[in-house]
Amino acid sequence: MNRPFTPGIDVNAPAYVKHARAIEWVSEIAALTKPDLIVWCDGTTAEYDRLCDEMVAAGTMRRLNPKLRPNSFLAWSDPTDVARMEDRTFICSEQKEDAGPTNNWVSPVEMRATMAKIFDGSMRGRTMYVVPFSMGPLGSHIAHVGIELTDSPYVVVSMKVMTRMGAKVWDVLGRDGHFVPCIHSVGAPLATGQRDVPWPCNKEHKYIVHFPETKEIWSYGSGYGGNALLGKKCLSLRIASIMGKEQGWLAEHMLILGVTAPSGEKTYVSAAFPSACGKTNFAMIVPPPAFEGWKVTTIGEDIAWIKPGKDGRLYAINPEAGFFGVAPGTSNKTNPNCMATLKENVIFTNVALTPEGDVWWEGMTDTPPAELIDWQGQPWTPDSGRKAAHPNSRFTVPASQCPSIDPEWENPTGVPISAFMVGGRRSNTVPLVVESFNWDSGVYLAATMGSETTAAATGQVGIVRRDPMAMIPFCGYHMADYFGHWLKLGRSVAHRPHVFAVNWFRTDANGRFIWPGFGENMRVLKWIVERCQGKAHAQETAIGWVPDFDDIEWKGLEKFTREQFASVTSIKHDEWEAELASHDELFASLKTRLPKELQLRLEALRLGLAA
Ligand code: OXD
Ligand code: MN
Repeated sequence: MNRPFTPGIDVNAPAYVKHARAIEWVSEIAALTKPDLIVWCDGTTAEYDRLCDEMVAAGTMRRLNPKLRPNSFLAWSDPTDVARMEDRTFICSEQKEDAGPTNNWVSPVEMRATMAKIFDGSMRGRTMYVVPFSMGPLGSHIAHVGIELTDSPYVVVSMKVMTRMGAKVWDVLGRDGHFVPCIHSVGAPLATGQRDVPWPCNKEHKYIVHFPETKEIWSYGSGYGGNALLGKKCLSLRIASIMGKEQGWLAEHMLILGVTAPSGEKTYVSAAFPSACGKTNFAMIVPPPAFEGWKVTTIGEDIAWIKPGKDGRLYAINPEAGFFGVAPGTSNKTNPNCMATLKENVIFTNVALTPEGDVWWEGMTDTPPAELIDWQGQPWTPDSGRKAAHPNSRFTVPASQCPSIDPEWENPTGVPISAFMVGGRRSNTVPLVVESFNWDSGVYLAATMGSETTAAATGQVGIVRRDPMAMIPFCGYHMADYFGHWLKLGRSVAHRPHVFAVNWFRTDANGRFIWPGFGENMRVLKWIVERCQGKAHAQETAIGWVPDFDDIEWKGLEKFTREQFASVTSIKHDEWEAELASHDELFASLKTRLPKELQLRLEALRLGLAA
């Protein structure tokens, strides 16, 4: 922090806070943002309940019917504040080249001047909450601590669900422990006597800013999700990816799950899928009935921090304590474990309200209720011609409530990872599953992964966007250096996970999905796990190892034919020619720093496919 300490602001730190630098920093930010009050959050249930009650009184949230959805709330945001904003997200490294071509860059000098201006008085008329939090189990050697200063009580209660938040974090920090400073303001100061709105935000200016060298986060103008809950995308991915590169570990946009075979043997897998590819569903997959004795357990559904262990394996933790998932499409059919998780103690945002005081979203039931209040507070009927819930409406819920939560999910040493899976939404080209030949070709598979856009995300359908490791919006530094870091990390450990690419989304001539997906993905997961154990057969192709029809368990899905299997696994020469041309384009955009291994792998693939 460059700004000098401004004396004279009494920040009233509780006696248990012994970290002089943190107190000084709180005082500096208070001097800048000028809140009416400072509250040091202790993370207790009493504090959570009080803030929720205050937000209900202020109209920010409503309490749902306690009989239908105990201790749960619904918030409707401002219609201009409904999602992460990649065009307002900045990586302000000293050198532009260090942010790389996939990030927005502004010089730190210029951005600090902007922050000093917009944060000046930004909390007037509001309370500044001091929110200490640990990403990862308290005291785990894989965990890291942040402190978020925010003027949003919605952020405070969400941080309680999503992180280990509260007074105990100060014990971990002690007198001089490291923390990531996270400053957040909704950017809506109140003049004396001015009435507040239910969802304050700044409609004109939004900034989500990261300073990689000093590991600071400044977020202004939005109160929604990843823009405001700074432990999630900002700290656990963008800043953590930089820490990982400096310190020799990985911060990944990955779910983590455990697969227990009937023999009792347990295998942990981590998977990177871009948004809208069913990541939460896969993290909580229920094996089909024919998979008697198989069990899948959930460690995380969005982020994995992965560090080398002393035994030469990679160990992963889920740094989060809750799920902040997209509601639409979630149902008892697509994800029964998730629906059971959402029974109580949930904060819903931007879903629809039923006349009984419960929630509803598109896809929750086959038949929509006859009437609802939509996410903008308007009466809604099925023929209204608009969505009742916003497509990016969310639930915030403690992970501990998930019926499939793994008993080891809070183990501070993490779980040993045997396989990485990567995969996007591709209607052709990429087969159902392929295993890389080795670590470098696995990094290539992950680095070149792409996904077709859905209408919800871009308004355009079917355009392939390259999204290496599903990290395009979240890598805090030059993407080519990130590839280099993966290559190097793999070389530094004795037991590298196997790497697999998957694609659940191939379509037929009528545009219909061929592979049934959801619970049936267990068939692919079983093959993956057994490959890791050296038990499953595979066939060599130019792009990697693939299963034959007879290598997959078909019990319970006998209707899936050999022809259908061929159509989800074929590797077509013309499609792959176009695919490699597109990999070439990605590499050209990163060429100043692209590791030579990846360029060589591209050439090898070209030769292999031509042969
Ligand atoms: C998320 C995302 O919200 O990836 O998890 O966008
Ligand atoms: Mn995500």
